[in-house]
Amino acid sequence: FHVDWDAAAAEKGGHSSFMEKEILEQPTAIASTLLGRTDAEGALVLDELRISEEQLRAVTKIVIVACGTAFYSGMTAKYAIEHWTRIPCEVELAHEFRYRDPVVDQHTLVVSISQSGETMDTLMAVKHARELGALTISICNTHGATIPRESDAVLYTHAGPEIAVASTKAFTAQITACYVLGLYLAQLRGGSYAEEAQQVMRELHEIPSKVETLLAGMDRVREIARFMADTRSVLFLGRHVGYPIALEGALKLKEIAYIHAEGFAAGELKHGPIALIEPGQPVFIVVPGPDTPHGLHGKVVSNIQEIRARGARTLVIAEEGDEDVVPFADEVIRVPQAPPLLEPLLTIVPLQVFAAELASAKGLDVDQPRNLAKSVTVE
Ligand code: G6P
Repeated sequence: FHVDWDAAAAEKGGHSSFMEKEILEQPTAIASTLLGRTDAEGALVLDELRISEEQLRAVTKIVIVACGTAFYSGMTAKYAIEHWTRIPCEVELAHEFRYRDPVVDQHTLVVSISQSGETMDTLMAVKHARELGALTISICNTHGATIPRESDAVLYTHAGPEIAVASTKAFTAQITACYVLGLYLAQLRGGSYAEEAQQVMRELHEIPSKVETLLAGMDRVREIARFMADTRSVLFLGRHVGYPIALEGALKLKEIAYIHAEGFAAGELKHGPIALIEPGQPVFIVVPGPDTPHGLHGKVVSNIQEIRARGARTLVIAEEGDEDVVPFADEVIRVPQAPPLLEPLLTIVPLQVFAAELASAKGLDVDQPRNLAKSVTVE
């Protein structure tokens, strides 16, 4: 009697790659990152921060620093944090922040985001921020890593170990942790800010089961990915919080499928990118939910119409029940309904699945893409 046993395959728990496994672990990654951060009444409790409420109340500006996927989680968080707290929030690539004489003082909160906690560029940005007297918080997935040790405080993402080079569950956990931090700052402001924070926390708790539902319906996305194995270029459009999701969707495809991919802000289309649209060009569009303020949903639907008229192949990611997109979509990929600022935790999922499936259809090593390292500990 002989049993073939392969340690690596066993660790993947029956999945074709770590990336596949980690994509599917997102409901747990998000739920674990929310766990234990509210009390019985639903108020946020972040004792682990070890920064006094007085210090946090004195914050007049937030600067998020990160690289790669973590940077896009920060870009997403900016929309939410400014909306909930009314504290100005900037997001900057860590390697740019350090070398350009940024305006930072003791009332600036510098939030670094890093899955590994070892990225040299991010670490150096944190050290620089501390030298300038800023308060530093690390959002990190790795206990005891260098960046949290070099920061005043840490808020861990509890995504569990991420093995695949291309980040997936750490990304959604990072957005979740940034939101928890933003909502905590909103709660400290009191009044209607605090009330909204509790409401959003309740909505956040519903996200893991929505991601679960979404993941159960990815067959068509996989099919589309396999059909597109020979594609040379894919564009991604998004608006509001869908904009960083377009950028992250494009990054996933570059990283593991080696396909030229660009993400754009949908409003920028007419200022340049529309010149790239030619017949057959595949374009993913991340459509804001119909409830998004300022009529952004309608504006993005018009963008889909414009590019479709120029021959683009439109792959539309839209909420369940959004029928406005149907006439202009070659494919509609449905995501469960959620409040606008929480949509990124859903809309990124089909783009992750698409990239992983396409890379594997091309016969590539999904977990270990060429030229990339999971953690870049050099400048
Ligand atoms: C590398 C990885 C990316 C990752 C980035 C930031 O470039 O290949 O996947 O997003 O580093 O890593 P961090 O550990 O700081 O989140």
